[in-house]
Amino acid sequence: MCGIVGYIGKRDSQDILIEGLKKLEYRGYDSAGIAVFTKNGLEVRKSIGRLANLEQKLDGQPLEGSVGIGHTRWATHGKPSDANSHPHTDNTHKFSVVHNGIIENYLDLKDELIAKGCKFVSETDTEVISHLVADEYDGDIVKAVQRAVKRMRGAFALGVLTEYEPERLVAVRFASPLVIGIGEGENFIGSDIPAILEHTRNVYILNDGEMAILTKTGVELMTTEGEFISKEIFHVDWDLVTAEKAGFDHFMLKEIYEQPKAYRDTMMGRISDDGRSVELTEIGMTADEIRAIRKIHIVACGTAMHAGLVGKTVLESLARIPVETDVASEYRYRSPIITPDTLVIVVSQSGETADTLAALREAKRCGARVLAITNVVGSSVSREADDVIITQAGPEIAVASTKAYTSQLIAFYLLGLFLAETLGTKDSAFIAEVVTAMHQLPEQVESILDNAPVLKQVAENLSKHNNLFFIGRGVDFAVAQEGSLKLKEISYIHSEAYAAGELKHGTLALIEEGIPVISLITQEDLYEKTLSNIKEVKARGAHVLGVVNEGFEGEVAKSVDELFAIPKTLPLLSPALSVVPLQLIAYYASLARGNDVDKPRNLAKSVTVE
Ligand code: G6P
Repeated sequence: MCGIVGYIGKRDSQDILIEGLKKLEYRGYDSAGIAVFTKNGLEVRKSIGRLANLEQKLDGQPLEGSVGIGHTRWATHGKPSDANSHPHTDNTHKFSVVHNGIIENYLDLKDELIAKGCKFVSETDTEVISHLVADEYDGDIVKAVQRAVKRMRGAFALGVLTEYEPERLVAVRFASPLVIGIGEGENFIGSDIPAILEHTRNVYILNDGEMAILTKTGVELMTTEGEFISKEIFHVDWDLVTAEKAGFDHFMLKEIYEQPKAYRDTMMGRISDDGRSVELTEIGMTADEIRAIRKIHIVACGTAMHAGLVGKTVLESLARIPVETDVASEYRYRSPIITPDTLVIVVSQSGETADTLAALREAKRCGARVLAITNVVGSSVSREADDVIITQAGPEIAVASTKAYTSQLIAFYLLGLFLAETLGTKDSAFIAEVVTAMHQLPEQVESILDNAPVLKQVAENLSKHNNLFFIGRGVDFAVAQEGSLKLKEISYIHSEAYAAGELKHGTLALIEEGIPVISLITQEDLYEKTLSNIKEVKARGAHVLGVVNEGFEGEVAKSVDELFAIPKTLPLLSPALSVVPLQLIAYYASLARGNDVDKPRNLAKSVTVE
C-alpha cells in the first residue's frame, strides 16, 4: 500500500522524508517522490522504481528546505511511472498533494476539471485532488481542502502543501490511516508509525473525517467540517519491527485483519451509486462480445487457483456460462480446447507467476480473450491481459496468502454480477440483494475476527496432530481446499481436503480414533447431506469441528464435537466468511508449533520459474 510522510520544522526535510519512506519500504511500492519548499518555490522530484532511483535524481541536486511531503506509491489507477508517482501538483505548480487510498468519483471530478481548463498529466485518481484543491483555493488552504474533501468520495489520507502558505502542512484522514507526529519545533505526518518513529513517539491518531494543520510549532486538530477538536496524545512504545506490523505479531495476522478493508476497497467504485448494480469500467468487452462467450477457463496457481474454484461456482450460477478451473502448470500441457469464444480468466496476486503467465500466453495464442484478476498494477499478467480487474488488497507481505485470496473472491462476485446483468441471467432485484449482502461482508468478517481467541484454542489442540481432514460440499469444498493448503504451508501438518460425499469411496479408511476433521456446513441445500457425511466420520472416531452459519448451530451441534458459527450471508457469498476462521486456525497452529509464520519453509511468495 502507498506510504506517506511529511515534515515541517527547522531541519532539512529531504533526508527526513527519504529516511521516513525507507521505513515504509516493507509495505511494497513501485515508485516514489517528494515535494519540498525550496528557495525556488514548491519543487517536486519523483521516480519509478526503488527509492534508490529517487535518491540518484536528488544526488547533486538536492531539494533544500524545511517543509516537505513524500510518498511511496503502490499503483492502483495507472501503471507505475514517473508521471503517475506522487506528489501531484496542479497546473500552476503551487499546490502539491500526496494521497493514499482511492477516489471513487475521480472520473466525474476529472471531467469537470478538464472542462474548467485543467490539464492532466497522469492517469491517477490523485491528480484530481491537486487540481480540485487549487480550484477551491481563495486564500485559505484549510478551507480549500475542506471544500475539496466534501466533493470527494472514497478512502483517502492526504498531505497537502501550497506555495501560498509555506508555513502550513495540511493532513486529512478519511478511511485510510494517518498519524501526526509531535516533535519539538517540528511536526510530522505519516501513513504509518514507522515513518516517523525515529523522530518522535508522541502521536495523534486521526479518525475518519478529521484533519490536522501542522506548523513548525504546533498542531491544530479539527474535523473536515471545520470544528476544532482535541485529542489524547498516543505514546508509541513499539520498536520498529512491531510498528511495521502495526502492533500485530506477524504480517500474516495483520493481513488477516486487513480483510474488511480489502473487501471495501475492492468493491469501492465498482458498485453504482444506488447500490443496485455493478460497474466494471475496466472491462473493455462490448455486450455483444460478452454474449458471444461460450465457455470460461479460470487458470491460476496455489491459493489463487482456489479462488478460481469458488469463481467457477460463482460465474456458473450467476452468468450461466460453463466454467472450468485449471491449475496453470497443467493447463498448457493438457491441450485445452481454447477457441475464440472462450474467455480465459487468469488469477494471480503477484501477476508474475511463471505458470500463470505461460497459460495466459497460450490462451492468447489460441485467440481467446484474457481477463486478469491481479493485485499488482503493471505486473506482467496485467500488461499482457486484454482486460484487468485489480483487486485492492494492498501489498501482501506474508508468504501465505490471505487478503489477496478473499479480494479475488470479491472480484469474482463483482464479475459474476456484471456478466449476469449484461446477459440478463439474473433480474435486478436479485442483483441488488447480492450487492446489499456484499456490503455487509466487511462487518461480518470483523465479527469473526472478534472470536479469534476461540480459534486459537482450537488450533492449539489441532497442532498436536500430524494428520487431519477438511470436508465440505459445493463451495464449502472449494474453501476446504484453501483451508487445507493454508494449514499445510505454514503449520506443516499434513491435511487433506475432501468433497464430503466422496469420503466413502476409500478415504474413510484413514479416519481413525481422535483424528481432527474440520467440516464446513454453510450451504443450506446441502446441510443434511453434509451432516450424514459428518456422521460417517464420527462413527469412526473423528473429532469434528463444524464451521456453520449462525442460526443453524442447534441442528449441527448434535452431530459435531465443536462449533464455530459464522454470520449468515447468501450461500454464494459464504466463502468470503468461512475461509477466515480457517486462516486463523492455520496461523495459530503454525504459531503453536513454533514455526516462522511469515516465512514458511520451501515456499516463495512469488514463483517466477516453471
Ligand atoms: C506461490 C505463493 C502462493 C500463491 C501462488 C500463486 O505458491 O506462495 O501463496 O498462491 O504462488 O501466486 P500468485 O501471485 O500467482 O497468486
